[in-house]
Amino acid sequence: MARQKVVGEGIDPSEQKKPRGKRTRAADAPEAAPVLDPLPDPTEDAPLNKLRPTSFDEYVGQQAVLASLKIAVQAAKSRDEAVDHVLFNGPPGLGKTTLAHIISKEFGSKLTQTSGPTLERPLDMVGLLSNLEKGEVLFIDEIHRIPRAVEEYMYSAMEDFKVDFVTGKGTYSRTLTYRLQQFTLIGATTRAGMLSGPLRDRFGLTYHLDFYSPEELSRVVKRSAGILDVQIDQVGSDEIARRSRGTPRIANRLLRRVRDYAQVTADGVITGGIAAEALTSEGVDELGLDRLDRLYLTTLADQYGGGPAGLNAIAATVNEDSQTLEDVVEPFLLKIGLIIRTPAGRKTTQSGMDHSGVPSLINPGSHQASLL
Ligand SMILES: Nc1ncnc2c1ncn2[C@@H]1O[C@H](COP(=O)(O)OP(=O)(O)OP(=O)(O)O)[C@@H](O)[C@H]1O
Ligand SMILES: [Mg+2]
Repeated sequence: MARQKVVGEGIDPSEQKKPRGKRTRAADAPEAAPVLDPLPDPTEDAPLNKLRPTSFDEYVGQQAVLASLKIAVQAAKSRDEAVDHVLFNGPPGLGKTTLAHIISKEFGSKLTQTSGPTLERPLDMVGLLSNLEKGEVLFIDEIHRIPRAVEEYMYSAMEDFKVDFVTGKGTYSRTLTYRLQQFTLIGATTRAGMLSGPLRDRFGLTYHLDFYSPEELSRVVKRSAGILDVQIDQVGSDEIARRSRGTPRIANRLLRRVRDYAQVTADGVITGGIAAEALTSEGVDELGLDRLDRLYLTTLADQYGGGPAGLNAIAATVNEDSQTLEDVVEPFLLKIGLIIRTPAGRKTTQSGMDHSGVPSLINPGSHQASLL
C-alpha cells in the first residue's frame, strides 16, 4: 500500500509515517478476513448489497440520531434549502455511509461520494464542489484524512458557498471566486479527534454513532434474513446478535456464515443451537470476541500484568498495526468494560482479567489478588 501523508491535529508524529489507507478485507486472504472484522468487504458497496437500508424506516436503531435527522431533512425541504452539513463519527460498520445515502434519498437529491485521501489537490475539491447542483450531497468518507491545503478551501465553501482560488504566483497571482450552489456536505470519520477544529465547527449537525444493543442487532439479523430468504428463529437471531460486537456489518457477515453452516449440517433453518455451534467453530466466543481480541486481552493481562501498557507496546507484542488495534479492537473492549484507557496506558478490568483466563494474581491491584 502506498504511504499516505496524514495531516491532522493531535496525531502522534511517529504515527504520521504509517499508512492510513482505508482498509478493506482482502477477498483471497482468510487470515486477514476474520468474520468479526468490522472493516468492509470488497463487495459491500456493490449495487447488489441488498442488505443496506435505503430509507429512514428501514434503518434499525440509533433512534435519537434518526429523529434529529428526520426533522433536519423535513425542515430543509419545507424551506427549500439544502440540509445543513452533517458529520458522522463512530467505529467502522455502524452505518455512517448508509445514513449519508439515506439522507440524500429522503431529501430527493443526488449524492456524490469521495474520500479524504483521494482529494490530493485543492483543484480536485474545487472541481467536485463546482459540479454540485442545489441541494445535492457531497459525501466525504474518512474526512479526517483530507490534506490541510485542500481543507482550507472547504471553510468558505461550507460557510459561504464560494471558493476563492488563487492562480499564478507573486505579482502575477490572481484570486478567482467561484460561486457554488447551496450543497450539503456529509462527512464520515472513525476518528473525530483527528479532525481540525475549524472544519469540525462548520458542521451544523454532528452525530456520534454508538454500538448497537443486542436487541437492535437481532432486528438487523431478522431483516437481513428476510431479504436473503433464510429461515431463522428468535433464539437464532438473538445468538448471532449477541456475538456481533454491537456492529450491523458483523451481524450480516455472521448471518451469512451461519446460513452456510445450517445448510450443510442441518436443514437450513437457523436455530439458537445451530448459530452457537457455527459461530464457536468460526472462533467467535460468547461475547463476540475473536482471536485478535483475545490475543490483545491475554497479552495485556499476562505479559503486562494487566497494564498500564502503551498501545504501541501492545501492538508490537501482538504483531499487529496499532491503528487496527485502536480503531477495531479497542472500541468494543472498552464498550463492554474489559479494558480501560488511563493516561499511563491501557489496563484490563477485573472482567477483562476473568475473560482472558489469566489468573488475576498477576495483576497486583486486582480484586482477587487482594483476597489472597
Ligand atoms: N442501522 C442499520 N440497520 C440495518 N443495517 C445496517 C444498519 N447500519 C448498517 N447496516 C449494515 O451494515 C453495513 C455497513 O454499514 P456502513 O457501510 O454504513 O458502515 P460505516 O459506518 O460507513 O462503516 P465504515 O466506517 O467502515 O465506512 C451496511 O451495508 C448495512 O448492510
Ligand atoms: Mg462507510
